[in-house]
Amino acid sequence: VFHRVVASRGEVQIPSMAAEEGQWVLMATGRSPTNIAVIKYWGKRDEALILPINDSISVTLDPDHLSATTTVAVSPSFPSDRMWLNGKEISLSGGRFQSCLREIRKRAQDVDDENKGIRIKKEDWEKLHVHIVSYNNFPTAAGLASSAAGFACLVFTLGKLMNVKEDYGELSSIARQGSGSACRSIYGGFVKWCMGKSNDGSDSIAVQLADEAHWNDLVIIIAVVSSKQKETSSTSGMRDSVETSPLLQYRAQTIVPNRVLKMEEAIKSHNFESFARLTCADSNQFHAVCLDTSPPIFYMNDTSHRIISLVEKWNHSEGTPQIAYTFDAGPNAVLIAPNRKNAALLLQKLLYYFPPQDNDLSSYMVGDKSILSDAGL
Ligand code: DP6
Repeated sequence: VFHRVVASRGEVQIPSMAAEEGQWVLMATGRSPTNIAVIKYWGKRDEALILPINDSISVTLDPDHLSATTTVAVSPSFPSDRMWLNGKEISLSGGRFQSCLREIRKRAQDVDDENKGIRIKKEDWEKLHVHIVSYNNFPTAAGLASSAAGFACLVFTLGKLMNVKEDYGELSSIARQGSGSACRSIYGGFVKWCMGKSNDGSDSIAVQLADEAHWNDLVIIIAVVSSKQKETSSTSGMRDSVETSPLLQYRAQTIVPNRVLKMEEAIKSHNFESFARLTCADSNQFHAVCLDTSPPIFYMNDTSHRIISLVEKWNHSEGTPQIAYTFDAGPNAVLIAPNRKNAALLLQKLLYYFPPQDNDLSSYMVGDKSILSDAGL
């Protein structure tokens, strides 16, 4: 799976629907991409509100390949809230879904659409139930995080349906209560999640550092190392780290604040060398914290380590970073090239050292395949 960094939250359309009194359905559809952290969020200071112990920075991916598309519908004929994810009904009883629904409903406004003959008063939203249908456009089996895209999309689209007027910062703080990393997917481009200081989470919001057009040369390649579900979820892994890792507090208080400043500067000035060094160091430190957790958490596997060695050797031989790597709570490698040339060279190396078993490149890769011809493949 590979990507250019041309990201967006996606558009929302509200199609016109039926009309007769009590017989209508109003729907909204939205799309949100997932995001990849280059300075990691790992550890909460408040589990219920999902408040982090440090700031984090991410890049939002291209919605064409790694995004959630969600349709939310409301009708007086729906007796309860229900949700289907990738075609299967799932329970909405979890606290995280309930928080997002509650916070959006609280901010709902009048909807008055004469053309459609639909009028919903602010106070009616409490009584109306929603049906939510969400799809990821990437195989769930790819083992790539989907909760960030999913909750960002849910909150964004529900907000449109219920005519919520709050700005993106406020929406990000609601998406955060679904999954921490989701708050960053409210925006495209480069995004910072400011941890905030308050106890109620009102200042724990995401802000856009630069939009999707800012560093258009970057190419992101995701090498799917294993499609298995991870054994330790981010939520429980970071809880264990907070409780047991002495390195975690040191990282959050002493290392990350400085790194965040440098990363903002690197992004602003398109400084790939600094960007790559910070990204790799932060990924490695996050996995060091995982090892420092008791019992230790192993998210990367041998293949992940071999990919790191390949990139490190290459970077070292050139004397300056050619590729940045970062790994989340799983073994899949996210590799960031400064341009198409390096992306093509990287693909050549990946395909040489990790050849596809059936030699079928078309099923081995999804995304912008034109880069294959750049690589002479
Ligand atoms: C390693 O956002 O999935 O991807 O807030 O408990 O839902 P919860 O965790 P989640 O954690 C993401 C952790 C990470 C780093 C990151 O995205 O910053």
